[in-house]
Amino acid sequence: MSMGSDMYRQQILDHYKNPRNYGELEDPTYTHVGENPMCGDEITVDVELVDGQIERIAFRGDGCAISQASASMLSERLTGASVEELVDMDRDDVIDMLGVDISPMRVKCAVLAEKVAQDGYEIYEGEKDADRTTTE
Ligand code: FES
Repeated sequence: MSMGSDMYRQQILDHYKNPRNYGELEDPTYTHVGENPMCGDEITVDVELVDGQIERIAFRGDGCAISQASASMLSERLTGASVEELVDMDRDDVIDMLGVDISPMRVKCAVLAEKVAQDGYEIYEGEKDADRTTTE
């Protein structure tokens, strides 16, 4: 294992053990819930938007280290970002953010929070059916 990937593994473990922005927002612009159908783990994401900027983002739920660390890292990365940054994110951006090789089985874990946050925004914007639950 290279030094670099060891550092990223430590970072993932740290975010898993001490998740940032874990909990709920008092007055979110939107809230969305989604699950990983492979395991049934669920994540809820709250986002507060102000003038197209992500003012705050919080998440809660259960999941493996990758899904929880990914949600925590995503919440840090997107706080203060434009909503376009969230909309433009894809699978590769999330994997880059995590910095480790993700097996195909774990990709759904890695992208769960990102998909929930994106789907929630699309529902909020009226682009997706409000009954839709995100499954990744
Ligand atoms: Fe459930 Fe990863 S095993 S989200």
